This record gives sequence, structure tokens and C-alpha cells, in this order.
Amino acid sequence: PIAKELFGLSLLEDQIRQAYNLRKVIVVPGDSDTSPMTKRELGRAGAKALLSVMGDEDVVAVTGGTTIADVAEHLTTPPGGPLKGGWFVPARGGLGESLEMQANSIVSKMAGNVGAQYRLLHVPDLLSQEAYESLVQDHMIQEIVETIRKSRIIIHGIGNAMAMAKRRRLDPDTVAEIQAEGAVAESFGYYFNEQGVVVHRMLTIGLRLEDIKRTEIVLGIAGGASKAAAIQAVLRFGQEDILVTDEAAAEIIARNC
Ligand code: G3H
Repeated sequence: PIAKELFGLSLLEDQIRQAYNLRKVIVVPGDSDTSPMTKRELGRAGAKALLSVMGDEDVVAVTGGTTIADVAEHLTTPPGGPLKGGWFVPARGGLGESLEMQANSIVSKMAGNVGAQYRLLHVPDLLSQEAYESLVQDHMIQEIVETIRKSRIIIHGIGNAMAMAKRRRLDPDTVAEIQAEGAVAESFGYYFNEQGVVVHRMLTIGLRLEDIKRTEIVLGIAGGASKAAAIQAVLRFGQEDILVTDEAAAEIIARNC
């Protein structure tokens, strides 16, 4: 806390918390874009924030990405013992990430580290309407989707819309469409414009917008000056409860509050 005062980070935390009516904001020093140490700290702070709200019977929905993968690395068994009755599940299926940053890999790692249970969602990327229609009829899928929709906590990353569309290898027409719609941010497979309005969605299975809206704790973790506008767009969407970010992003967000 003393170091935070020195860096003026508590001030940034308060400013953002009040501007977006959040329950908690945690700002780590530095810029994740340029400092791997800051990126790791973001993961460590994210893990701590998650453990501070997770109880033994909770279902936690998890998105993919390198930041949330870093959170998983830093999770450990809580002092009170393993959360044996807790569940980690992917928030949504098939977002086209490479294995290490897929929600499926991350949930198994998280569950292993805190001694909880997990379930996977095996849904291929880029579902066609026909594939979607038949998958939602599948009993195994229905069962896991039911668990996902019971989540008390969502832990998610936030990306820049264009960077994410390309990383997920969307076809050039879809990328152009997302750009024309004015998307600046991507999170949970939804694309948001600067005002925080959803302008595009990936056709996949799992959490829907209405589920996100009724989830008790939405915990977002993202940092780096390059992500400031994306984070701000997701804050304007208005469903965030806890934000873990870094100094570089927080300074820009606070300036534009
Ligand atoms: O949805 C956003 C992305 O998962 C963020 O990915 O943490 O690797 O930047 P990242």
C-alpha cells in the first residue's frame, strides 16, 4: 500500500472505480506492452483478486488469452485449503486460439492449481448456422452450457478488436465488417464499439449477453497502453465489477473518464 501511494496508483484506482461504479480496481505499476514483468504482475494481481471472491461452491467461467493464462499460472491453493466444491468452466466455446491460450487449457490449469474441478467445452471454431443448430441439441453440450450459465464469477481478458479478429483468423470479409461496425474491443467473443455497445458477436455456444448481465462478479484483467481504449469500451458496456489493469492503461482511462 505504501508503494502504491508513492506511485499515485491508489489515486488512479479510486478515480476509475468511481467513474465506472466498480466494486474494486487494482492497478499494478508499469506497462504490460513493454514490460514482461508488468504482465506477470497483472497475472499475479488477477489471481489474488479471483481468490478474494471465490468460494468453495462457486462456478467460475473463464475466457482465453495470454493474460488469463498468466492468471492461471499464479493461482495457488488458498490458505483455507483446496476449493474442492468449486468449478472452472470455459465461458464460451471455440474462439480459435492456440492451445496454450484456449479457455479449455486455462480452466484445467486453474482447477489443478486451486484444487477445484473443471469441465471442458469441445466446440469447434467458426460454427456454421447448421453446426450451431445441431450442437445446441446435443445433451452433453446442453449439460455443460447449463453449468456455464450458473456461473457466479466470470474472469475475462479484453483485447483490441482488430488484433483479436486477426489472431482468431477470421476471414477478411468478417474482419472488414467488424472494422466497419466501429469495433474497438473484443471480450467473451463479443465485439464492442467505443461506447461499449455490442456491434458483432461470434457464433458460438456458452455465455450469452444476458448471462453476463446477471452474473454476480465480472472480473476483467487487461493492461498495456495499447489496450486502454478497448478496456474503456468494455467498462462502458457496464457489466464489470472488478478491474485489474496496469498503470499505463489506467492513466489513459482516468484521463478520459
Ligand atoms: O478477449 C480478449 C483476449 O482474450 C485478450 O487476449 O490477454 O492475450 O491479450 P490477451
